[in-house]
Amino acid sequence: MPETAGKIRIAVIPGDGIGKEVIPEACKVIEAAARAGGRAAEMVSFDWGADRYLADGVTLPADAPEMFRREFDAILLGAMGDPRVPSNQHAADILLGLRAKLDLYANVRPCILLDKKYTPLAGRSETDIRFTVIRENTEGLYVGVGGFFKKGTADEVALQEEVNTRKGVERVIRFACEFARRNGLKKLCMSDKSNALTFGHDLWQRVYHELRPEYPDIAFSHLYVDTLVMQMVRDPSQFEVIVTCNLFGDIASDLGAQLAGGLGLAGSGNIHPGSVSLFEPVHGSAPNIAGRGIANPVGSVLTSAMMLAHLGWDRESRWLDAAVRASLREGKTTPDLGGSMGTKELGDWLARHVAGHS
Ligand code: NAD
Ligand code: IPM
Ligand code: MN
Repeated sequence: MPETAGKIRIAVIPGDGIGKEVIPEACKVIEAAARAGGRAAEMVSFDWGADRYLADGVTLPADAPEMFRREFDAILLGAMGDPRVPSNQHAADILLGLRAKLDLYANVRPCILLDKKYTPLAGRSETDIRFTVIRENTEGLYVGVGGFFKKGTADEVALQEEVNTRKGVERVIRFACEFARRNGLKKLCMSDKSNALTFGHDLWQRVYHELRPEYPDIAFSHLYVDTLVMQMVRDPSQFEVIVTCNLFGDIASDLGAQLAGGLGLAGSGNIHPGSVSLFEPVHGSAPNIAGRGIANPVGSVLTSAMMLAHLGWDRESRWLDAAVRASLREGKTTPDLGGSMGTKELGDWLARHVAGHS
């Protein structure tokens, strides 16, 4: 998408629980930015989620991936997950389905502390917590290969296979290297569990060692994942970019989100370079607070900032970022961060701040 793109078309999937509360606020803020910048953001909503699944069985229509590729510049998704669907079937079809079918192989999850009063780590400030987790997003333990044998009996066997391909590992490590270069970063930590997973993660090791010489400007390091999460807490300032497999990236990015102020603030992008990509907050549908109007919309707003930057709307993206920083500085927050604002009230505040740029 060229920097001059005057109009963008976004597919919006609010999903379940607080997804339905925070995504409208993000859309409001995007609209304010588009207006302030003299541009247009057309947003088309899709009602896929637990309600729709329970009503008529629809999860992800078969033509959806192709339709998104053809008709949209990006997808903005809230969250999938509902206690009424214990199998999580709709989330597997919609969220994991889109990641797989659109081949969104790099999940970019920044863990950047915007205001030091919100980190739980004593004595740490904004310069200490500034790293990004790049999570492999199409393989690993998420491919759904496995099955049951003698299910429901005392002899039950349950298998869940981890799939690592040469192509999949190489492209995500390369993505992380290019991400570092593009953002002027020098340090890249690859994390695996090759001391125990002697086949799949041996592949990660070999690819990692093969690629290193191609990026002499990057200081590479390797940590086993158990040490990685310990070091993230002990001294997060040592990290700039972390690349790891699907499951470890899922876990490390929730920990990283908390170091940077909490799940309510964390955004992400599921990326396939050059093709339609999907942006979503890192958090889930939070059934424990859904329907109360107190969910933090900032994760979705920062997700939207990532999306706008990805589409070449750098100026508008910076406005969203600036609005969030101002709200945190002034303590304009929802209860998860100790404030008393509601979701909509904070969304309005952020939209007004963004509109101030016109
Ligand atoms: P969760 O992220 O929904 O909630 C974890 C905790 O963080 C809860 O206490 C919740 O109240 C809090 N929280 C999360 N987002 C918040 C926000 N924006 N503002 C304030 N507080 C917030 O994780 P969970 O409870 O493990 O999962 C709930 C459901 O969401 C499950 O069905 C799970 O599978 C699903 N889930 C979906 C996604 C996704 O769609 N990307 C991500 C994670 C979990
Ligand atoms: C996430 C979520 C999903 C994942 C779940 C809902 C399947 O936790 O996006 O981080 O594990 O990828
Ligand atoms: Mn997760």
